[in-house]
Amino acid sequence: MLSVKHLKKKFGKINVLKDISFDVEKGDILAIVGPSGSGKSTLLRCLNMLEVPTSGKIIFEGVNLTSKDANLPLVREKMGMVFQQFNLFDHLTVMENLTLAPIKLKVMGEGNAKRKAIELLKMIDLYDKMDSYPSSLSGGQKQRIAIIRTLMMEPDIILFDEPTSALDPLMVGEVLDLIKRLANSNKTMIIVSHEINFVRNIASKVLFLDEGKVQFYGSNKEFFTSKNKYIKEFLDKVNN
Ligand SMILES: Nc1ncnc2c1ncn2[C@@H]1O[C@H](COP(=O)(O)OP(=O)(O)OP(=O)(O)O)[C@@H](O)[C@H]1O
Ligand SMILES: [Mg+2]
Repeated sequence: MLSVKHLKKKFGKINVLKDISFDVEKGDILAIVGPSGSGKSTLLRCLNMLEVPTSGKIIFEGVNLTSKDANLPLVREKMGMVFQQFNLFDHLTVMENLTLAPIKLKVMGEGNAKRKAIELLKMIDLYDKMDSYPSSLSGGQKQRIAIIRTLMMEPDIILFDEPTSALDPLMVGEVLDLIKRLANSNKTMIIVSHEINFVRNIASKVLFLDEGKVQFYGSNKEFFTSKNKYIKEFLDKVNN
């Protein structure tokens, strides 16, 4: 579904991503882990071309996104992204936040968009917040709304960039539970997360970045049972 080949990204003279290659198949849950500043967010942003790679290929559903004729708006419909800071529109109600993009981009008509929004709001037990504004919601509620907002577009893959790191610890669980439900329903996802127990629980594959280089890419089991000194040091650190 997604194949990244020899991806490099420089900011000025700094090499932030150094020759990254990996694949995501349908149904995979790829976790990207690594120390702060290792390039995780930059990598995610390159995947949907929010950041233009310096070189390398990103092949998504048969299309090379780094080529000039890639239809990036369409790609971004198929590749949902959930950010750390929710990015809901504060001047729109929950219902308007959910239905704006699918109606505007003609993915569905207003009636269907509202029906789908209601179905998703019920799924996350926030049906009663339909007419509320984001400012009246808790961080965990906002992030769950932001997640179902990406689901409205029926993406083929969802990218999460530390979806719980801006949350009060009490609200981390409800967001992780929702992501876990999506994982169990066979959604394809890439998740950048520091929640290492969560990663251990749900990831099918792990990519460990350090200073812009892939230090490890392989199965969950290989990663968590690795005898590699760097991986063990990293796991010891994040477990404390
Ligand atoms: N727009 C930019 N211009 C210049 N340097 C940048 C830019 N964006 C990121 N960087 C640099 O690239 C490196 C990787 O940053 P990135 O945000 O991808 O790391 P990260 O792994 O997501 O870190 P964190 O865990 O703290 O979120 C950092 O050294 C950062 O300063
Ligand atoms: Mg980051």
